Amino acid sequence: MVEISASILSVEKENSIKKFYELETAKIDYFHIDVMDGKFVPKNTTAQMLEYAEYIKQISNVPLDVHLMVEDVKTWVLAYAGLNPNIITFHYEALKTKEAVMDVIKFIKDNGAKVGISVKPGTPVEDIYEFLPYVHMVLVMTVEPGLGGQGLIPETLDKVKTLKNYLVENNLEIDIEVDGGIKVNNIKDAIDSGIDIAVVGTGLTASDNITETVKQLKQQ
Ligand code: DX5
Ligand code: ZN
Repeated sequence: MVEISASILSVEKENSIKKFYELETAKIDYFHIDVMDGKFVPKNTTAQMLEYAEYIKQISNVPLDVHLMVEDVKTWVLAYAGLNPNIITFHYEALKTKEAVMDVIKFIKDNGAKVGISVKPGTPVEDIYEFLPYVHMVLVMTVEPGLGGQGLIPETLDKVKTLKNYLVENNLEIDIEVDGGIKVNNIKDAIDSGIDIAVVGTGLTASDNITETVKQLKQQ
């Protein structure tokens, strides 16, 4: 069954405690933390996401799924390592060389987390094949990173299918996660393409019955 990672990017501070509680009781599988540095993407969410993640860590045992949309990857790995995240995902596009990618993969593992590598919609998934033996998850962005509430770009699911076939052919046991624009009415397409985990942001946090929406997402 597909796992649901709830993006809290669009949760407002005023009702954050209530939303986090509702998400937890709705049995989401992960809290997805969108760290944006104002450089890799225009928006800067660093202070708010760290505050949210620290709070969640105090009240919940739901694992953290940290998505780093930052240029300086190691700084933010260190900032989150103390919260024992289940997985830290970095962007392939943030790093300039193969050596830098391998170095960051090792750095995340040395800091005790599983490793995810992410590609933006315009990056061919084939570009990261050489790193697959060393990571636990591939995050295929289904929108341009930077904002919640955008529409899913359908062509990105073709990349998921290509990747899934490659993983099966090469006996690689790596999870595929998608992120951006996933809702009850399109998650089936993503599942049929071969995903293991769906990040859902506004599709969940804007719902007035989060428990029911999580059920519906998992039933598709
Ligand atoms: C976009 C973020 C996503 C996004 C998900 O840069 O990585 O996690 O906020 O939100 P929705 O589901 O609203 O697209
Ligand atoms: Zn994200």
